[in-house]
Amino acid sequence: MKVYAGLAGIPVVKSSISYIDGEKGFLEYRGIPIQELVENSSYLETSYLLVFGKLPSKDKLSRFINDIKNNLYLDDSVLKFLKDIPSSTHPMKVLQSIIPVLSSKDPNTDVLDEKHHYSSLVNLLGQVPTIIASWKRIQEGKEPVEPDPELSYSGNFLYMMRGEKPDELEERIFDKCLILHAEHTINASTFTAIVVASTLADFYSAVSSAVGSLSGRLHGGANERVFYMLSAIKDIDDIPAIIDKKLKNKERIMGFGHRVYKTYDPRAKLIKQMLQEISSIKGDSKLLKVAMEFEKVATQRLKEKRIYPNIDFYSGVLYSLFGIPPAFYTPVFAMARISGWIAHCKEYIKENKLFRPTQIYDGGHNIHYIPPEKRG
Ligand code: ACO
Repeated sequence: MKVYAGLAGIPVVKSSISYIDGEKGFLEYRGIPIQELVENSSYLETSYLLVFGKLPSKDKLSRFINDIKNNLYLDDSVLKFLKDIPSSTHPMKVLQSIIPVLSSKDPNTDVLDEKHHYSSLVNLLGQVPTIIASWKRIQEGKEPVEPDPELSYSGNFLYMMRGEKPDELEERIFDKCLILHAEHTINASTFTAIVVASTLADFYSAVSSAVGSLSGRLHGGANERVFYMLSAIKDIDDIPAIIDKKLKNKERIMGFGHRVYKTYDPRAKLIKQMLQEISSIKGDSKLLKVAMEFEKVATQRLKEKRIYPNIDFYSGVLYSLFGIPPAFYTPVFAMARISGWIAHCKEYIKENKLFRPTQIYDGGHNIHYIPPEKRG
C-alpha cells in the first residue's frame, strides 16, 4: 500500500460543476469559460448556474434573487451572539462559529430531502454577507448597518461594510470578483465540505467546516498575508533582495503557486486586469505598483518550478482599494465560495458514500501501560 500525500492527483469524486486545465490555465463553470461569466453574468446568476447546473430563466433568476434578499436580515439573537464575541476574534473564526447558528432559523435541514437544500442555500447566501459586514462594524465599535434590499447583492455588501453606497464601478468589479471566487473543483475547503456532507450532516455544518479549512494560509488565508507582505515593502528597489531572502530561507511566497495550475492562474489574470481598470480611473495605487514589480521578480525566480501568481496574489490588493480591511479578505472569499461548496455537497450526496479513507499504521504493538510514577 502507498500513501497519497495530500491526495495529490487522486480523484475522489465525479463532478460536472467546474473544470480546470492546469497546463493551459483554463477554468470553466458548468462548461462555460470563466472569462465569459465574468464579462456577462452576475454573482447570483453564476451561483444559480453552479448549484442547479444551468443558467436560470429570467423568472427563476428573479425569484432566486428575491429569496436571497428576503434572507438578508439577521435575527436579534444572532446579532446579540455577534456582539458577545470577544472583539479581537478574527472574522474567519466568527464566521466559522456563527454559521451553524443560522440553521436554527431553518426548520428543514435534512439533506436527504432535496427540497431542503434550497432553504439552506438562500439562507446562507443572504445572511453570510450581513454577518461579515456586521462583524466589521462591531469590531470598530459601531452599530451594524442594516441591509438595503434595493441595492444589488454586491452593492449591498459594500454598503453594509462601509456605511456608504459604492459607485457603479466598485459594485460591478466587486461582483466580478465574487464570480471568480465562487468555485474551483475539489480543493481543500470543498473537499472538507463534501467530507462533512458525506456524514449527512446538514449544509450549515459542511459550510462552517469549509470556512475553517479555507482560513489556512496555504489556501484562502493567503490573500490576507499577501497584503501584509506587500505593504511592508517600503521601496520597490528592495523587492529582489526581499524575495531572494525568503527563497533562501525556504519561505513560501504567499499568493504564488498552485497544486493544479502549472501556469498563470486565469483568475489572477482577470483580477489584475480589474485592478488596472479601477486604478486607471481612481488614480494609481502604490500597492498595485509594488505588487506588479513583486510579481515580475518572483516569477523570474520561480518560473523554473512552474510557480506563478494565484488568485490570492491580487485579490487583497483589489479589496484594499474598496476600503475592506485585510482580515476581511478571506471572509469575502468564503462568502463567494458558498455556492460552490453547496453545489458540491448537493452533487455528492446524490450518490453518497461516507468518506472513510484508510491509513498505513506504523506505530508499535503490545506496548504495556506504565503507571505515572514508573515513567522515566
Ligand atoms: N513560494 C516558494 N516556493 C514554493 C511556493 C511558493 N509559494 N509554492 C511551492 N513552492 C516550491 C516548494 O518549496 C517546493 O520546492 P522544492 O521542490 O524545491 O522543495 C515545490 O515548489 C513544490 O511544492 P509543493 O508544496 O509540493 O507544491 P504544492 O503543489 O503542494 O503547493 C501550495 C501548492 C500549497 C498552494 C503552494 O504553492 C504554496 O504554499 N503557496 C503559497 C500559499 C498560497 O498562495 N496559497 C493559496 C493557493 S490558491 C488558493 O488556495 C485559493
